[in-house]
Amino acid sequence: MVDLWLKDAKIVPENMIVSLGIEDGKIAALKKIAPKREECINLRESVILPGLIDAHVHFRDPGLTYKEDFRTGTMAAAAGGFTTVIDMPNTRPPTDTAKAFKEKLKIADHKSLVDYGLHAGVGKLKDIKNLFKLKPASFKLYMDLLDDDTLEGIFREIKNLQNDGGQEPLISLHCEDKETVESSTLKMRSKGRDKPELYARARPVLAETTAVSKALKLAGKYGLKIHICHVSTEESLGLIDEAKKSGLKVTSEITPHHLLLNSSYLRKCGNFAKTNPPLRDQKDKVEIGSLNDVDIIGTDHAPHTIPEKEQNVWNALPGIPNLDATLPLLLTQIKQRNLTFTDLKRLLCENPAIIFNIKNKGFIKRGMDADFVVVDMRKEGIIEPDKFKSKAKYSPFKGFKVKGMPVMTMVRGNVVMEDDHLSKNQGNFIYS
Ligand code: DOR
Ligand code: ZN
Ligand code: ZN
Repeated sequence: MVDLWLKDAKIVPENMIVSLGIEDGKIAALKKIAPKREECINLRESVILPGLIDAHVHFRDPGLTYKEDFRTGTMAAAAGGFTTVIDMPNTRPPTDTAKAFKEKLKIADHKSLVDYGLHAGVGKLKDIKNLFKLKPASFKLYMDLLDDDTLEGIFREIKNLQNDGGQEPLISLHCEDKETVESSTLKMRSKGRDKPELYARARPVLAETTAVSKALKLAGKYGLKIHICHVSTEESLGLIDEAKKSGLKVTSEITPHHLLLNSSYLRKCGNFAKTNPPLRDQKDKVEIGSLNDVDIIGTDHAPHTIPEKEQNVWNALPGIPNLDATLPLLLTQIKQRNLTFTDLKRLLCENPAIIFNIKNKGFIKRGMDADFVVVDMRKEGIIEPDKFKSKAKYSPFKGFKVKGMPVMTMVRGNVVMEDDHLSKNQGNFIYS
């Protein structure tokens, strides 16, 4: 006897109808027909996917919880079909000491609806070793804030961890070159104008490609594994592809906004479309047809308040809250035949689990955690930020028509979202 059956689920791309038996939070059985007289939820042939994994969220907890906290952030995750999130370290205090890391783990343990991991920041080099013992998903570096010598010093220090044996460290990078960003921003600001569309030129394509090249060079020199966050241009993808072919251990991420929007949205939506790196001109942006060269989709869920966004372009804070909207937007792309379920599973389930070493997640297989999202491919809607579970109720996707929406999210066999209802906290640390 298992604890629960999910009866008549459609697995894709096979389009096979199966029943999944769940025991102790894990997938215990996969059968054509669920046994009678056992507890079951009838999915009536709805599509089931492995729970989505978002390796890039900013929950602002601790310190900036007026923008978002671990509860509201994971409510948005559960509502959007995400069963695992990995939080970024740019909180207050930053997650760059063992003490801050442990504090954040406690917060997440109290508040998270879904399973979670944490990226570590890097402040003082001496803190890296102790942080590593706490199992960060990666060390996150912001190249727009680091000069070259400091950056290389960090790579050298992280290399020492690798020499100690044990788990291989991973470095995640925000690739925008500090010097290029500073000089271009100065140039654009000195023109004395403040139209949002100037922002894309204050942080040009060259800032990203310069940083990507530097990161790849360091990865090669030190033999370290790196992950490039939010790649926004075809040119960067080309550099990464070449590096992969030469044997470098590098992976890439794209966000829903860099994939589906271009710089014209800065004109249409003002600073609600302001993000770092900025949205690119159509000719430079990553094409949906290039997704084969991308390893994962991360939402870069980066909530701010509306007053923080409604300032002149130079002062408005960058970031877009995406957890609520991402899955409906991507299911719509599947409906429009720009994307397949195979792509979606690879980019949002399988590869995030592999890259961030999350055992037991990312796949619907016997023995794996019973993390699922059930989607209704016929359900239509409109992206309405007012209805987001996130505290941040704005989006450059506002008004987008969608077809295909999540209707149930399950974490280790527990329903955390069904229609509009959300459960209480039940998230676990993914590396415990
Ligand atoms: O747009 C962004 N917002 N880019 C970042 O790198 C940081 C993020 C944030 O934390 O708001
Ligand atoms: Zn970033
Ligand atoms: Zn980010």
